[in-house]
Amino acid sequence: MKKIMVVFGTRPEAIKMCPLVLELKKRKNFETVVALTGQHNEMLSQVMEVFNIKEDYNLKVMKKNQSLTDITVNIMKGMEDILKKEKPDLVLVHGDTSTSFVVALTSFYNHIQVGHVEAGLRTYNKYSPYPEEFNRQSISSLADLHFAPTQKAKENLINEQKDPKSIFVTGNTVIDALKTTIKDDYDNSELDFAKNKKLILLTMHRRENLGEKMRSTFKAIKRVVDEEKDIAVLYPIHLNPKVRQIAREVFSDNENIKLIEPVDVFDFHNIMKSSYLILTDSGGIQEEAPAIGKPVLVLRDTTERPEGIKAGTLKLIGTDEDRVYKELKHILSDKDEYEKMSKAQNPYGDGRASIYITDIIEDYFK
Ligand code: UD1
Ligand code: UDP
Repeated sequence: MKKIMVVFGTRPEAIKMCPLVLELKKRKNFETVVALTGQHNEMLSQVMEVFNIKEDYNLKVMKKNQSLTDITVNIMKGMEDILKKEKPDLVLVHGDTSTSFVVALTSFYNHIQVGHVEAGLRTYNKYSPYPEEFNRQSISSLADLHFAPTQKAKENLINEQKDPKSIFVTGNTVIDALKTTIKDDYDNSELDFAKNKKLILLTMHRRENLGEKMRSTFKAIKRVVDEEKDIAVLYPIHLNPKVRQIAREVFSDNENIKLIEPVDVFDFHNIMKSSYLILTDSGGIQEEAPAIGKPVLVLRDTTERPEGIKAGTLKLIGTDEDRVYKELKHILSDKDEYEKMSKAQNPYGDGRASIYITDIIEDYFK
């Protein structure tokens, strides 16, 4: 019997790791331990509830306005005790958060093998996204098993001289999650304000966008909403106080812009499906949108998800006020462009990534 410890701490990691936890728990060769760092609090619990998973540990490190140093130091100290007690055969981490980087590093320091889910995404710009590009490159140098979502991600790892035998293309577990959430008969009264209008779904939270970039993006969106009477913006705001302050400053008092609390992943996926267009700087949403066939204007200068650009669903538009304004006006008026971007094409696998990853781990320990 091998002990697999799955560790995560933020909303997107949870959404993509819960399907894997459920699959690991089905296999009798494994004892599966779930440890949360609690880098997020409410936004993490929301996901655990939807997937009905109870963790074995929660370090609960989150503090209001936490710095990268706070996260790093607190997780490292807490994780070491858990790793020493549990002595897992393999620790699984996800993607590019500080939770994942610090847990991979602490596992390495304790001579515990690391499997990296969603490995090989790159922009090769360490400040964009910040600090995620550093995190994921660093996890790649520590990991023993790399689960790449696409062939492109695998090529990135090969180009960095990682052992090809340790890299597996599995698809992205976000598609596994999507398969369980989307419902044809979904309805939500939060959407009533947008009846008979084009619903635009907005999210924005990246550290490198906090401040002026976020403010100028929001101003551009507000200008368009003031001009176009047939659109309505729904914005489930991230709980980061810095984001909320800018959102409240720019978007106050407008019946066509609705600011709501973060919604759980079941609601979010179905709201994506009900929307006309998405504006976001999120990573995960860039992966979900091509599968659902919803155009996304990406509020960033770089993306590590070129697959969605190639599929035609994503357009990188940055955060400059005039550019965001023009791009938004353009997609709202150009029907052909909108139709082209709306074709559902999923580059991220068949929704069985969790099964493939679990099979590979079983083989690895044979
Ligand atoms: C983190 C990840 C980012 C990921 C994002 C997903 C790092 C460095 N950043 O960024 O890669 O894209 O999560 O959302 O790992 N807060 C709450 N309750 C919550 C969650 C957050 O109040 O449930 C507030 C806290 O004040 C916290 C702040 O949001 O200090 C920022 O959270 P943090 O995890 O530091 O950064 P994110 O921008 O969420
Ligand atoms: N999401 C959610 N509720 C929300 C906003 C987003 O469940 O109110 C989901 C979304 O479907 C995606 C993930 O959260 O799966 C993206 O998380 P986030 O944007 O916080 O992080 P990133 O993907 O940028 O790391």
